[in-house]
Amino acid sequence: MSLLRDPLTHLTDARERYGDAVTFRVGPFRFVALADPALAQHVLVRNHRNYVKSRSYEGLRLVLGQGLVTSEGEHWRKQRKLAQPAFHRQRLAALADTMGACVRETVDGWERRADPAIDVHAEMMALTLAIVARTLFGTDLAEDGGTDLRALGPAVTVALHKANEHAESLIRLPLWWPTRSNRRFAKAKRLLDDIVQGIIERRRRSGEVRDDLLGTLMAATDEDGGGGMSDAQLRDEVMTLFLAGHETIATATSWTFMLLHQHPEIAARMREEATRVLGGRTPGFDDLPQLPYTGQVIDEAMRLYPPVWIVERQALAPDQIGPWHVPKGTIVAVSPWLMHRHPELWPDPLRFDPERFAPGQLGERAKLAYLPFGAGPRVCIGNHFALMEAKIILATVVQRFAIAVDDPASIRLEPKVTLRPEGGMKGRLQRLA
Ligand code: HEM
Repeated sequence: MSLLRDPLTHLTDARERYGDAVTFRVGPFRFVALADPALAQHVLVRNHRNYVKSRSYEGLRLVLGQGLVTSEGEHWRKQRKLAQPAFHRQRLAALADTMGACVRETVDGWERRADPAIDVHAEMMALTLAIVARTLFGTDLAEDGGTDLRALGPAVTVALHKANEHAESLIRLPLWWPTRSNRRFAKAKRLLDDIVQGIIERRRRSGEVRDDLLGTLMAATDEDGGGGMSDAQLRDEVMTLFLAGHETIATATSWTFMLLHQHPEIAARMREEATRVLGGRTPGFDDLPQLPYTGQVIDEAMRLYPPVWIVERQALAPDQIGPWHVPKGTIVAVSPWLMHRHPELWPDPLRFDPERFAPGQLGERAKLAYLPFGAGPRVCIGNHFALMEAKIILATVVQRFAIAVDDPASIRLEPKVTLRPEGGMKGRLQRLA
C-alpha cells in the first residue's frame, strides 16, 4: 500500500486532492491525516484527553519502556513533572559548554583529515550522540569502569531499526520469535540496558551529586511526596532522552547544511553573524541570543524538513474533529510535513526563506501552522535543548568550514521515526581560510 511505501508523497497528494482531513484504511485501521492547524489544536491541545499515542509508538516502547515519549496517564504526568527541572534555563546554561566542547572536537578532527569527503548525516549522528551521552552522563563514559562511547553507536542503530520495523508492520511477530532481527535487537537492547544500569548503579553507590542531566533526574523529588524515580524509571527516562535527543538533532542539522549549500547567500549571512559575534569562538550560553539569524535558519530548515514529520494519536472515544466524526480507535495523524508545506499557510511554501521567522513575522501565522516540536501537554521537553545544540553546532561549523553536499536533488527522504536522508548525505568539507 503506497501510504506505507511512500507516505510523504501519498499524504501530500491526498491533501491536494481531498483537503485538510483525509481518511485512509491501513489494514484493519482507520487513519485520518490532518493538515489544518485548528484541527491539530483540537486533537493535541483542546481535547487531548481523548487521545493516547497510537500503535506506531509501540516500536519505540520496546526500546524506551515507560519513558516520557511512550507512557500515558498518571505515570506520564508524574514523570514529566520530575523530569521538567532538568530542562530549566539554568540547567541548560550549564550544559552549553559541554555541547561546545563536543562540537570543537568534531571540527578539530575535520581539520586533521586528509580526505575532505564526509557523510554529513553520519558525522551529525556521531556528534549528537556524543553530546547527548556527555550531557546525560557527564564524564561517566570516560572514567575507569565506565563505558566506551563507541559501543553505544551500533547498539543504538540496531535498536532504532527495530523500533522502526515494529512501528511499520501491520503483523508483528513476538519478540521471542527467534528471527535474526529479534536476536540482534535482544543483544543490542541488553547492551544498552547494561550500560545505562551500570552508570546509574555507580552513581548511586558513590552518592555524588553532579550537574549533568542524569544528576538532575536522580535528584528530582516529587512535590506531592511521591518520592523520586526508581532505578527502572530512571533507566527508561535516560534511554528516552538518549534516543529522542540525538537523531532528531542530527537530521535537523544535516538538512540545514544541505540548504545552506544550496543557498550560498544565506550561508554567507549566517557566517557573517557568527564571525562578528564570536570571532572564531564556539558560542557559550550567553552568546546565543546574539545569533538570531542562525536561529531563523534552523527554524526555517525544520519547516521544510521537520525531523518528526508525523505525530500520531489514537481516539479513546468517538470525537468530532471540525465537521468530521471520528469513531473510537481511529488513528489521527497530525503531520508537520503537510502543515509546514501547506500553500495556504506559507506563501511559496517550497522556498527556503529564513525571513519567515524574522522578529515580528511570527504573529500573523495561524496557531500551530508550525509545530516541529509537537503541541499541547506532550510537546517536546527537549525543544530548548535542541535549539541551543543546533545553534552551537551551526555557528561553530560555519566559521571554519563550508560543506558542499553532493547532488542534493538526488537525496531521497526516508520518513522513519525521523525524516532521514536515505543512504546518508555525502559531501565535501571545504576549509575556510
Ligand atoms: C530538533 C530536535 C527535536 C525535535 C524536532 C523533536 C520533536 C519532538 C516532537 C514532535 C515531540 C512530540 C511527539 C508527540 O507528541 O507524539 C517530542 C517529544 C519529546 N521529545 Fe523531542 N524533539 C527534538 C529534540 C529532543 C531532545 C534534544 C530531547 C531530549 C534531550 C527530546 C526529548 C523528547 C521527549 C522526552 C519527548 C516526550 C515528551 C512527553 O511526551 O512528555 N527531544 N519531540
